[in-house]
Amino acid sequence: MKAVVYRSPRDVRVEQVPDPRIEKPTDAIVRITSTNICGSDLHMYEGRTSFEPGRVFGHENLGEVVEVGDAVEKIKVGDMVSAPFNVSCGHCRNCERQLTNYCLTANTPGIAGAAYGFADMGPWQGGQAEYLRVPWADFDALRLPEDARDRENDYVMLSDIFPTGWHSTEMAGLYPGDTVVIYGAGPVGLMAALSATLKSASRVWIVDRHPDRLRLAEEIGAIPIDDSKVDPVQFVLDQTNGWGADCGCECVGYQAHDPMGQEHNNDTLDKLVRSVKFTGRIGTVGVYVPQDPKAPDEFEKQGKVPFDFGLHWFKGQAQGAGQCPVKRYNRNLRSLIHENKCTPSWIVSHELPLERAPEAYKAFDARENGWTKVVLKPQMSAS
Ligand SMILES: NC(=O)c1ccc[n+]([C@@H]2O[C@H](COP(=O)([O-])OP(=O)(O)OC[C@H]3O[C@@H](n4cnc5c(N)ncnc54)[C@H](O)[C@@H]3O)[C@@H](O)[C@H]2O)c1
Ligand SMILES: [Zn+2]
Ligand SMILES: [Zn+2]
Repeated sequence: MKAVVYRSPRDVRVEQVPDPRIEKPTDAIVRITSTNICGSDLHMYEGRTSFEPGRVFGHENLGEVVEVGDAVEKIKVGDMVSAPFNVSCGHCRNCERQLTNYCLTANTPGIAGAAYGFADMGPWQGGQAEYLRVPWADFDALRLPEDARDRENDYVMLSDIFPTGWHSTEMAGLYPGDTVVIYGAGPVGLMAALSATLKSASRVWIVDRHPDRLRLAEEIGAIPIDDSKVDPVQFVLDQTNGWGADCGCECVGYQAHDPMGQEHNNDTLDKLVRSVKFTGRIGTVGVYVPQDPKAPDEFEKQGKVPFDFGLHWFKGQAQGAGQCPVKRYNRNLRSLIHENKCTPSWIVSHELPLERAPEAYKAFDARENGWTKVVLKPQMSAS
């Protein structure tokens, strides 16, 4: 089959790779019909992780089940399913507690948490390909309703970014009527804004410097803050009698940079501490890594962040961080889509055949104007 293979920093190619097959009786094989490029792929694409050349990308996967192992009972051939980016067994101590983001059996011993096509997240092949092997299929695959084929660009967001945006508002303790400040208006920040809106936040500020992304946030009622023009912390303080937002979401991660492009891995974390109120909570879903050999300075190379813990402590704030447990939310978010309470596909800018993945990676990585979210369609003809 064809798949998007990582070769070296900023070099992905569409190559022939072996078809996945049923390896355990609990597996299913899914023919991928929609698979997104994610901001998480870009850390790997840029060579800022240990992702191995030759591996296949893709953890935001949706498609049709074409084969199931003998032990699969619920999922049937022909079902349209969304596969959470977390690979999880369903029976370990963490999975039992809905901590599928830190499954104890799906990665190598000593590391909790696994994902498709992801650095340090186990051996699982990615789904930017014609087919994907989904292990523990009865637990991991979420069946989609009868409108699945008509609304793939909405449902494909269930595998990662919609639940992840939602999770950041959960960790932030967002309650109806609260105000929230979100750093990053990429796909994840936009989903955090959507989630905050669905939860009836009274005001949602969102910080970025890309006008196309800020415009999408504005379309759902968020207040855009362009940090190349104004100081986002002061902006929020001015609108909250100097106190700050009730809570905050970090949707950028360790490659946070200033509008000129210079990286500072503490930038958004420190700004959140300053623009969230005393006792406010912060939900950090942007990725941070234990080692970052290509970081701009020695300290950061060790994965360390010069974080303003003094002020964070002084303000009595709390913070949650880490991968999103997609399964905790995807069933309910599926219902919100199905019942027309939201259309997360509003951020999709491009639907492309797999063959065009290399140019899509290039443009999305450069955050080119108008490239807000790419959905690859492996069954779409390239011509
Ligand atoms: N925790 C999880 O489970 C999970 C899941 C998916 C993605 N992620 C992570 O979420 C982060 C965002 O992903 P995305 O898909 O939205 O990607 P993205 O990289 O396209 O979006 C990030 C946005 O942040 C903006 N930005 C950069 N520095 C900034 C700063 N200092 N202040 C304000 N905005 C700034 C960029 O302009 C960009 O629009 C990534 O780190 C990704 O790896 C985490
Ligand atoms: Zn993702
Ligand atoms: Zn598990």
